Amino acid sequence: MEVREDWKATTVYQIYPRSFMDADGDGIGDIEGILQRLGYLKWLGVETLWLSPVYASPQRDFGYDISDYRAIAPEYGTMESMKRLIEAVHAQGMRLVMDMVMNHTSSDSAWFEASRSHRDDPKRDWYLWRDGRGKDGKKPPNNWRSMIGGSGWHYEEQTEQWYWATFLPFQPDLNYRNPVVKRAMLDHVRFWLDQGVDGFRLDIFNAIFKDASFADNPRSWRPFPSEDSPEGFFQRPLHTIDHPDTLAFSKELRAVLDSYSHPSRFLVGEVFGSPEALKRYCGEHADGLHLVFLFRAMRTAFRAEAFRALIAEYEQHFAPPLLPTWVFGNHDRARSIDRLDGDPRRAALLAFVQLTARGVPFLYYGEEIGMTSLDTPFSSSLDPLAHHYGWVPDLLWPWMKRMGLFVHRDVCRSPMQWEDGHHAGFSGTKEKTWLPVHPNFRRVNVEAQRKDPNSLLWCYRRLLHWRRLLPCLARGEMRLFEDQRSRRMLLGYERSLAGEAWRAEIWLNFGTQEQALPVGDAPLAWFSSLEASVEEVAWLDRGVALPMLSEAALLVSRPTRLRPFEGVLLVHRHG
Ligand code: NOJ
Repeated sequence: MEVREDWKATTVYQIYPRSFMDADGDGIGDIEGILQRLGYLKWLGVETLWLSPVYASPQRDFGYDISDYRAIAPEYGTMESMKRLIEAVHAQGMRLVMDMVMNHTSSDSAWFEASRSHRDDPKRDWYLWRDGRGKDGKKPPNNWRSMIGGSGWHYEEQTEQWYWATFLPFQPDLNYRNPVVKRAMLDHVRFWLDQGVDGFRLDIFNAIFKDASFADNPRSWRPFPSEDSPEGFFQRPLHTIDHPDTLAFSKELRAVLDSYSHPSRFLVGEVFGSPEALKRYCGEHADGLHLVFLFRAMRTAFRAEAFRALIAEYEQHFAPPLLPTWVFGNHDRARSIDRLDGDPRRAALLAFVQLTARGVPFLYYGEEIGMTSLDTPFSSSLDPLAHHYGWVPDLLWPWMKRMGLFVHRDVCRSPMQWEDGHHAGFSGTKEKTWLPVHPNFRRVNVEAQRKDPNSLLWCYRRLLHWRRLLPCLARGEMRLFEDQRSRRMLLGYERSLAGEAWRAEIWLNFGTQEQALPVGDAPLAWFSSLEASVEEVAWLDRGVALPMLSEAALLVSRPTRLRPFEGVLLVHRHG
């Protein structure tokens, strides 16, 4: 029987649970809060929710340091509330993906506590322990650098050995060369699949296997890693990142997911590198991870030619059966609208790319209303990564940031701005919320934008619903239009799907001047990024059929000009 691969056509919305909605009034978001806001997510039209970690954790890295994979952190809820969430999401016809941190656990986990207790402990070999170099063994075992700079080896006096951590010192790496560890982690994966979750976002998946030789990594001249390359801190991570055994493991994990086919589940990997390098994680026969994050879009200049080149590159390396992903923000990066001068018209244009180009879109909570980064001092940051870099003089920060090092992640994790009221509707607490609400919440909030069909929120909503209505957007082929004359400003492409009644023609003006649209066929209907048409509002709010769906569909005239930063989608009869 053919398995329906719904994940291929889905749209993903990332919830950072700590900041989404606080139902119990402690100033921290929780699962009950997500349940309260499900109606909004349904209204918006997103199909899959990805939750950043809600497992039991000391929260030193806000959940990316898990101490118990089968328990929920009390500030977020209970196993019972999590089960209710899974059910409620499914009842809405939506899907739920959890974050799975396989590379490391918290140093407070029972596993690591046992492992660090004694050299002879049966769990010693569950982590990576080595003797140090030098006469007294006080030098790290080799030159390996962690992902955040500096040696990733940490010395333990008690047993006089070093353990390896790819990220922060309290996140020790598991030893996947020990089959018992692998089995235990795959059991955690199965446990959640059995609870009904629809897949996983895999945290720093590129670091799972380290080379068994523990040989030194070669030197490099690159100061910092980037979205495009994990090479940095003057080292090529030959033995620590993208190990062939990690690529092989992606297939093993895939096989586990594939054994749950009703409904089909999916994996999306957090990996870094060029699209060409990253596609290896999907397997030569599309038998690895279903998707990998492609972060290049986050740093692509706001120019038609830059996005044309990016789309061409994604199409080249992620041609069917593979699929690219479209990511503009997450809990580790500055808010995407910051790069767009805070201009909602530009944000709407990028939303057009994200939701109409071929691939699976990943939206970060608040992006849909244009939430901007929080201006909060580095010195009082709650982010452990900022503490790690506490020694860097303030003067150097702008330079480090320009070089792509982003370590003050509080700025993109501020509470969701629901309304123009107390704590922006995020929490009823009389105290402070865990991070402050952005002061622009009176202007930038869901309630205000819900009332305005020309808002950014509505633009996302309209796009999300067209994707449902027009299968060519979610599943179709992609063809870039060649238009040499105006390619600096204008980007155009077509989406079509064999056997479908409609095809979509998309034109985006990245310039500050009006642009003439190339002449072409009159469409059945067309939609603009800058304002909603009367028909769309009626369709979305009252369920009235769009004209193109009715028998009496009339050709409307083709738009001839695009305003600055305007995008349009033209619907044509196909074939
Ligand atoms: C990547 C996650 O996105 C980030 O938030 C976390 O701190 C590290 N991995 C470590 O788990």
